[in-house]
Amino acid sequence: MCGIFGYLNFLVERDRAYIINILISGLSRLEYRGYDSAGLAIDGDKENEVRLFKEVGKVAELRKMIDQAKPDTTKVFNTHVGISHTRWATHADNNKLIYKSYRSDLKSEFTVVHNGIITNYRELKTLLEKKGFIFESETDTECIAKLAKFIFDNQPSVDFTTLAKLVAKELEGAFALLFKSVHFPGEVIATRKGSPLLIGVRTEKKLKVDFVDVEFGGLEGVVGEAHGSSASRLGLPHGHHDRFLRRAQSRAFLNDEGMPVPVEFYLASDPSAVIEYTKRVLYLEDDDIAHIYDGELHIHRLRREEGASAIRLIQTLEIELAEIMKGSFDHFMQKEIFEQPDSVINSMRGRVDFVHKTVTLGGLRNYISTIRRCRRVIFVACGTSYHSCLATRAIFEELSEIPISVELASDFLDRKTPIFRDDTCVFVSQSGETADTMLALRYCLERGALTVGITNTVGSTLSRETHCGVHINAGPEVGVASTKAYTSQFIVMVLMAMVLAEDRISKARRRADIIDGLSRISEQIKTVLASADHIKKLCQERLMDHPSLLILGRGAQHATALEGSLKIKEISYMHSEGIMAGELKHGVLALVDENLPIIIIMTKDHLYPKVQSALQQVTARKGRPIVICSEGDREIDNGVYTTIAIPQTVDCLQGLLNVIPFQLMSYWLAIARGYDVDFPRNLAKSVTVE
Ligand code: F6R
Repeated sequence: MCGIFGYLNFLVERDRAYIINILISGLSRLEYRGYDSAGLAIDGDKENEVRLFKEVGKVAELRKMIDQAKPDTTKVFNTHVGISHTRWATHADNNKLIYKSYRSDLKSEFTVVHNGIITNYRELKTLLEKKGFIFESETDTECIAKLAKFIFDNQPSVDFTTLAKLVAKELEGAFALLFKSVHFPGEVIATRKGSPLLIGVRTEKKLKVDFVDVEFGGLEGVVGEAHGSSASRLGLPHGHHDRFLRRAQSRAFLNDEGMPVPVEFYLASDPSAVIEYTKRVLYLEDDDIAHIYDGELHIHRLRREEGASAIRLIQTLEIELAEIMKGSFDHFMQKEIFEQPDSVINSMRGRVDFVHKTVTLGGLRNYISTIRRCRRVIFVACGTSYHSCLATRAIFEELSEIPISVELASDFLDRKTPIFRDDTCVFVSQSGETADTMLALRYCLERGALTVGITNTVGSTLSRETHCGVHINAGPEVGVASTKAYTSQFIVMVLMAMVLAEDRISKARRRADIIDGLSRISEQIKTVLASADHIKKLCQERLMDHPSLLILGRGAQHATALEGSLKIKEISYMHSEGIMAGELKHGVLALVDENLPIIIIMTKDHLYPKVQSALQQVTARKGRPIVICSEGDREIDNGVYTTIAIPQTVDCLQGLLNVIPFQLMSYWLAIARGYDVDFPRNLAKSVTVE
């Protein structure tokens, strides 16, 4: 839901071409988060001048428009702040006007880039209009820039941190913001509430410390927090400078003499945008106000609070650049589908001992006995992550013998579901940032439940705010359609169920069978992937020209049907419905005829005879289904039906294999219909708005 990226060089000479390239490259990495329009703000040729470039469409369009504008790319900056934005529209607006949306006024005294949604922007807009501001667009971001200018006009001696605090205090909703201002050249403010934001640091020097202190204090403490350039602006006595400098000794970006070193900062919605330049990052927390100036990074809190952490660690990212590149594949989604033989192994690495048949999940170690004693386990998630919970509910119930429910985060909140202190609430999210899931998490935290996070994103809000959890370790997922995260979430939830059952002798046989199944799963995924050409042909010959498709599945394969139909909808824009096969006769059968494409998931498990009767109901109405069956099932795979044969595994793992034909189908259908797989219309990867 929008990606923002900023770059600040301090005592490092960079020409404008370099700065533009960095901003464009950062935006390109974030483009999967939104691609309705893109823009950037950099310094102009004259002092106190800001240049805005903004274009409707993808980042490539912005690049083209900058090239056509022919800015002087040779101008060199010793210190410079550039901010940029790739946008997923949350407000309908006139595309022609959105390029003005970041600025406070015609001179762009304040420019702001924003990821999130400001829910009280209409009230703010009305108020600012009454004060004489004329709006150029319908975006909520413009309100933020104008609010900053309004506050500054009324308090010209305010420092940048205080100004940002005053603005942030007025904003409701979710946001990650970067501020640039002609009044504070060479300085940038980064703040967040509900939307992710991190700061990458690159310097030739080894960082002296790997943390940054947080400076607490409310607005009333402003003078005490005055620092460096702000102190000069405020005309404060020297004591304030000294106090600041003394405190600054502990900061990361000073040399042994306590003097600032050349340094570059990269501010971004997620690590993929900074990994090319540095692996040293600091994740901001909600209500942090980060102020970078004079080569130093200062973090202030929006509010004074008891018990809040006073340091932010500078962490080392473990992802590699190659992991977020497409390599030899045409699309990220394709690459991620084909990575699954490896990503599932990575999810199990160091956790499953295939020889001794044991499972260890370090992130849950101290909480297992609490979970075993809980009243119920509630899984909360959205979209594909929700489907992975549905897919593993049965095995979780069977192994843990705890009542399980699976909730869509938005509905869970809408119903104000009763939550108790002895509940365990498990939040599953690839990004770890999905707004609905995060709101549900906070709802459960307030009610005292134990919260567990299952996410792919180290350092995400989900991993920070839950009591405990497990990273799925699937590696960065860039394709907007989630594929490898689904299979890795699936595996991690099965592992969690096994850990909960490890004290039960009665489950030992079952656990051992599952572990054997897991040991073969990667090879079996490879076998399914080898049928990619067969699936491509089926898509071209049987599916691509149809407007609609039904997918039938039963038991755990109902989740596969739902996930398969979601993939097909979101990438190929073909209407598709996942149907519980047992429900066919209760209404859906009316749709069946010789034309409607139907896929029936019919791999061998205890429900096989029941799905067989669904198959008969379909063929009796002249339906010509494609059947996903087990390899060697001669009853089905005998030339009568069109089939996709899948290797057989333990029943509770079968969904890991059965989902792959659907991932491939959605991919090939989208290609056959001429759609851009990695940029499905109207969607974005990380949904950080409600
Ligand atoms: C579908 C898809 C979405 C996400 C959903 C939740 O392919 O990607 O349905 O699964 O938006 O996202 P996370 O898992 O990041 O919370």
